[in-house]
Amino acid sequence: MSLEPPEDQDIVIVGGTGDLARRKLLPALYNLYLDGLLPPQGAIIGYARGEMDDGGFRTLAEDAIHEFSRRPLERARWGGFAERLRYVRGTTGGFPGVKALCAQPRRLVYLAIPSSTFCATIETLAAAAGMVEGTRLVVEKPFGHDLASSRALAETIQATFDESQVFRIDHYLGKETVQNIIVFRFGNAVFERIWNRDCIDHVQFTVAESIGVEGRGEFYEETGALRDILQNHVLQVLALLTMEGPGSLKAEAVRDEKAKLFQAMRPLEPADIVRGQYTGSLVDGRRVPAYRKEPGVAANSQTETFAAMRLFIDSWRWGGVPFYLRTGKRMPRRTTQVAIVFREAPVHLFAGTGVDALKPNLLNISIQPEEEITLQFLAKEPVQEMSVRPVEMQFSYDESFKAQPAEAYERLIHDAMDGDHTLFARADSVDRAWQVVEPVLKKLPPVELYRAGTWGPKGADDLIGPRLWHLR
Ligand code: BG6
Repeated sequence: MSLEPPEDQDIVIVGGTGDLARRKLLPALYNLYLDGLLPPQGAIIGYARGEMDDGGFRTLAEDAIHEFSRRPLERARWGGFAERLRYVRGTTGGFPGVKALCAQPRRLVYLAIPSSTFCATIETLAAAAGMVEGTRLVVEKPFGHDLASSRALAETIQATFDESQVFRIDHYLGKETVQNIIVFRFGNAVFERIWNRDCIDHVQFTVAESIGVEGRGEFYEETGALRDILQNHVLQVLALLTMEGPGSLKAEAVRDEKAKLFQAMRPLEPADIVRGQYTGSLVDGRRVPAYRKEPGVAANSQTETFAAMRLFIDSWRWGGVPFYLRTGKRMPRRTTQVAIVFREAPVHLFAGTGVDALKPNLLNISIQPEEEITLQFLAKEPVQEMSVRPVEMQFSYDESFKAQPAEAYERLIHDAMDGDHTLFARADSVDRAWQVVEPVLKKLPPVELYRAGTWGPKGADDLIGPRLWHLR
């Protein structure tokens, strides 16, 4: 990310009053503004179906920033940001109404709307004079619902836009800790040497959320944990963790290596997947409802709120190494972390000492909320007899850098305005990620129930067994 403001352009948020716009986009734009990283000239146009005027949209943005911005609203600077905010009502004005407000030759059009409406919206956009040339289009995951719908979306996009105009956001790729994976792997020779099947026994990846579906029952019923998190966020980050070193850090060099890695992912089989759904429970003294009792959810819903999978990557580097990936809502705590579990050392040396097993070395990459990398190894306990215990070496972002990183959306919106594709998913990788999960989407195993506030159904332990899930 260059620390320069991007060239002048207008920003159009389609779905400008929705959840994503309020929680993420408007606060991100505001923080970019505070950092001097918005284009010097250009309007920020909210486009949605509701009746509203510019004043109403400014109030909505102000409330959203109060509630969700990482930095508080600064009264003295608010006016300069607010005067850029404009609103166009979708049903009356349509895109010609938006175009009339776009005074810049370039624009960023962000589709912050349900993915089921992407194709229709892109067709409307294509039909409005002057809304294709000079446009950079940002689409949010999920990119489709399965392989067929993802291909239909890709075709609609490609019928109107050149790939260089398209930015597919997977916000995990904008997280500072995820971006550090490339530096950690390829800037440190010591780790790259052991990053392969010779040294690594298996890899675990957990994305746990303590929240439930938070009023998004209808969206979630269509999506489920497999499509919401595993198929995109987790596979994208996994590609960074496992790809070969790119020739440079240029966007296409990195995206080419990721694409090759996606090609090497073996499509899943039904035995590789476990699905779970939470039931009601008391969590921290508070009663939380079962998923099936959430608003917008069918009483007999078979949608998974938890999914675990076992994945293989058929390459020389990774052949035979299992990757265990899991995600769930209503887990005991919010945590996203990767555990690289190395092969155990032989124990024969310790024969007769009372030490009959050695825990493997383990490298833990905590992505959130803790931002840390920890290496676990064995040390001799300072006692008379021979006794070994795991201890840790730790790097923490907080302690080492003492800086608050930008939100993923700030980084990604800035890069899209700057035309930098490095952190965005490319069409071929997205297509392959769907190919990987497609066989199980067609033959989903039934959901196993788990109590809210626990680590998911027993099937997930059986999937990884005899190994155990590891969390710091
Ligand atoms: C979104 C999912 O993509 O990611 C949500 O749709 C999920 O269901 C969210 O809660 C998690 O994002 P983060 O950045 O809080 O881990």
